[in-house]
Amino acid sequence: MTRAVVTGITGQDGSYLAELLLAKGYEVHGLIRRASTFNTDRIEHIYQDPHSPGVRLFLHYGDLASGEQLSYLIYNIQPDEVYHLGAQSHVKVSFEMPEYTGDVSALGTTRLLEAIRRSGIRTRFYQASSSEMFGSAPPPQNESTPFQPCSPYAAAKLYAHWLTRSYREGYGLFACNGILFNHESERRGETFVTRKITRAVALILAGQQNKLYLGNLEAKRDWGYAPEYVEAMWLMLQQDEPEDYVVGTGESHSVKEFVQLAFSYANLDWRRYVEIDPRYLRPSEVDFLRSDAAKAKQKLRWEPHISFQELVQIMVDWDLKAVGLSPIGAGERVLRAKVGAWCAKSYENGVLKRGAPAGRAALSCRI
Ligand code: NAP
Ligand code: GDD
Repeated sequence: MTRAVVTGITGQDGSYLAELLLAKGYEVHGLIRRASTFNTDRIEHIYQDPHSPGVRLFLHYGDLASGEQLSYLIYNIQPDEVYHLGAQSHVKVSFEMPEYTGDVSALGTTRLLEAIRRSGIRTRFYQASSSEMFGSAPPPQNESTPFQPCSPYAAAKLYAHWLTRSYREGYGLFACNGILFNHESERRGETFVTRKITRAVALILAGQQNKLYLGNLEAKRDWGYAPEYVEAMWLMLQQDEPEDYVVGTGESHSVKEFVQLAFSYANLDWRRYVEIDPRYLRPSEVDFLRSDAAKAKQKLRWEPHISFQELVQIMVDWDLKAVGLSPIGAGERVLRAKVGAWCAKSYENGVLKRGAPAGRAALSCRI
C-alpha cells in the first residue's frame, strides 16, 4: 500500500487531497495542529476511528514551527510520498504577521526537507508553491517567468520554492514545486475573497447580513476549482522525473466580476450591498495573475473542467444550503455532471448534507 504524509490536511486542499489518495487506495497520515476546539471539520466525513479494522487515515499532532515531530513522523511512517501543504496561507495576514509567516511557511519547509534528508528515506516530495510568487510580473505567467514577490507570504513561499529545488538538485530528492494559481471551493476558508463573497450572498438572502465590506475590486485572479488542482499535485509525483509545474485555468477575472456573478446568480443587485473598506487593502497588491499552464497540459495531461461561472455557482449553492436555504441549483448540477467520482461521492454523502457547523454562519469576516 502506498503511504503518504500530508501536512495541512485540515485545510481546503489537504482535505480534497486526502480524499483523492484514500480513493486511490493509499494509507494517509495527516499532520494536525493541537487546538482547544475541533479543527477537523473539512475531514470529518473521511475520518476513521483508529480502533476499527482496515483503517487507512491516521492523524498526528504536530506543528511546522517545530522540527521534532516532523522528524519523528518521517522516520516512523517512512512515506512513499510527502505532500507539503501546511502554511500560513493568507496574504493579508502575512503583512500583519510576517515573522510567523516566514517561520511556518518558509522555515517549516526547511524543517520538513531536513527531516526527509536526514532520514535517508527515498520519498517523493510535493511543495505547495504559489502564483503569488509572481507578484508584479506581467501575465501570462509560466515556469520561466521571473518571480517578483510583493508580500511576506510570497517571499516565504519563494524561499520554500528555491529550497525545494535545491534539495532536488543538491541531494537528488524527487521534489516538485506545484506553482498553483488561486483555486477555490465550498471548503475555501471564509476569509478568502471568494468565500467571503459567496457566504455574504447567502447570509443576505437569509436576512442575517446587510452589507459586504471588501477591499480592492480591480485585482485580477486566475480562479479554478480546488478538487481539480489536487489531482495535478498527485500527477506531479507520478512522473518519471521531478519538475516544477504551473497549474491554472489560463483565464483571469477581477474581484468585481466575481462579485457581480455571485450576486446576479442569486438575483441580487451587488451595488446595494457592497462597500469598500480600506482595512481590506494590502500595503502592496498583486494586480494581475493569469496562468500559462501549457506544460501541465502537455506533460501531466492535466486541464481544468470547471469554468469560472460554474465555480461561482457551486460556491453560492453550497453557502445557501449552509444557511438553511434552497440552492438555486445550477452549481449542484455541475458538480454531479462534472466532478470526479471520489469528490462527488463525498459531496453527496457527507459535506453538503451536513452543512456548515451551527453558529459558523453568524461569524463576521475580520480579514
Ligand atoms: P488553507 O485552507 O489555509 O490550509 C492551510 C493548512 O495549513 C491548514 O491545514 C492549517 O491547519 C495548516 N497549518 C497552518 N499553520 C500550520 C502550522 N504552524 N503547523 C502545521 N500546520 C499548519 O490553505 P489551502 O488553500 O488548502 O492551501 C494549501 C497550500 O497551498 C498552502 O500552503 C497554500 O499556501 C498553498 N496555495 C494555495 C492556493 C489556493 O489558491 N488555495 C494557491 C497556491 C498555493 P489549521 O486547519 O489548523 O489552520
Ligand atoms: N481576502 C480578501 N478579503 N481579499 C480581498 C478583499 C477582502 O475583503 N477585497 C478584495 N480582495 C482582493 C485581494 O486584495 C486580492 O487581490 C484578491 O481579492 C484575492 O484575495 P484572497 O482571496 O485573499 O487570495 P490571494 O490571491 O491573496 O491569495 C490566495 O491565492 C494565492 C495564489 O495566488 C491564497 O490562497 C494564497 O494562499 C495563494 O498562494
